[in-house]
Amino acid sequence: SRPAIHYRDDILTIEDIPLPALAERVGTPAYIYSRAAMQAAYARYRDAFEGMDALVCYAVKANTNLSVIRTFADMGSGADVVSGGELRRALAAGVPARRIVFSGVAKTREEIDFALNADILQFNVESEPELKAISAAAMAFGRRARIAIRVNPDVDAGTHAKISTGLTENKFGIALNRALGVFREAKTLPGIDIQGVAVHIGSQLTSLAPYGLTFDRIAAFVGQLAAAGIKLSTIDIGGGLGIAYHEDTGPIPTPADLAKLARERLGGLGCRLIVEPGRSLVGAAGLLLTRVIYEKHGGDRRFLILDGAMNDLMRPALYDAYHRIVPVVRTGAPESPADIVGPVCETGDTFARARPMPPLQPGDLVAILDAGAYGAVMASTYNARPLVPEVMVDGGSASIIRERPSHADMMALDSNRAIAFA
Ligand code: LLP
Repeated sequence: SRPAIHYRDDILTIEDIPLPALAERVGTPAYIYSRAAMQAAYARYRDAFEGMDALVCYAVKANTNLSVIRTFADMGSGADVVSGGELRRALAAGVPARRIVFSGVAKTREEIDFALNADILQFNVESEPELKAISAAAMAFGRRARIAIRVNPDVDAGTHAKISTGLTENKFGIALNRALGVFREAKTLPGIDIQGVAVHIGSQLTSLAPYGLTFDRIAAFVGQLAAAGIKLSTIDIGGGLGIAYHEDTGPIPTPADLAKLARERLGGLGCRLIVEPGRSLVGAAGLLLTRVIYEKHGGDRRFLILDGAMNDLMRPALYDAYHRIVPVVRTGAPESPADIVGPVCETGDTFARARPMPPLQPGDLVAILDAGAYGAVMASTYNARPLVPEVMVDGGSASIIRERPSHADMMALDSNRAIAFA
């Protein structure tokens, strides 16, 4: 079947809507998403884990727009949240509390209380102090908190250092060689109901090997726990499956590959599996639509200056991430290398260097692809630039799912209110 984002008569089109028509109505820069692409991505996970006792919990951090979360909630998805804000969004978008997992490195008492009150499925606990805090909070509610303990398997995910999480040197989870002790302690805490073990080794994984190593370590550990009289009912394998950002990316593992591996290595343990995909559900379903402001030449370099910038899509500046960048109108004219930059006053405001691009004029539209995950959610208002609006396309219709704030809106939170001291 035709991909959701494709050229039709040389015009880049998302589902049934040509991007120039959207640019005209919404302006640029704007994030544009395909609901069909998100639904297809979710269906791949659902089908992959079909027949297993498994719950897909969309990692909402990848894109927290309510319409995006609702798209998955409507298909039966749970949610993986990492803050009180994300938890509120998941609930507001219709994810049942009993399908919500609360990950996150350090949950505050306010967040713990809110989650206990909502009666979520599970807290993924990252440290002993947090475990004690959750126990105390649950006791104050007169109940027990269902928890999993996130272990750190010391596995190299083979991804960018800033998004690797499964090494002992990373701040995440509890080292496997200490985890048994922590489970034993958890068992003695009156406010704690041990439900499972959780792991997440990193993001944008393009090989299954680190998962295999991780699952083997988890399986061995679950055996150790059983021998110690601690029986689990859930294993949360985290997220992390990558997407093909680069034109030349070879085959990368699919949800079906991941599910098969999980079934082989963890299927016999009698536990319900939880999987927390983020990027692989939304990344390829979105793009950042921008316009060329100017083309300028400096020394031997050709600069294409877009109206989108590092504050709108941070990934290239932050991780040297590669995103395909394409003209919205395809002419077939010969390409020449261009540095594709934004107007923000930093050299890091560069989307690509020496990228082959056709001739482009001011006002021409350019799409930065694979921007549905960790795009809008990581945007800032640096240089007093308004946050970019978000649009959801659904067949031949489209909705603005997040408004572009006005400059007055943006200034409205600045105040001059004296703080009273008693
Ligand atoms: N579960 C946990 C506990 C996580 O920390 C993450 C992502 C996920 C699930 C979802 O991972 P995914 O399936 O999306 O790989 N901003 C970075 C990515 C940070 C990922 C953080 N944790 C980027 O733009 O590449």
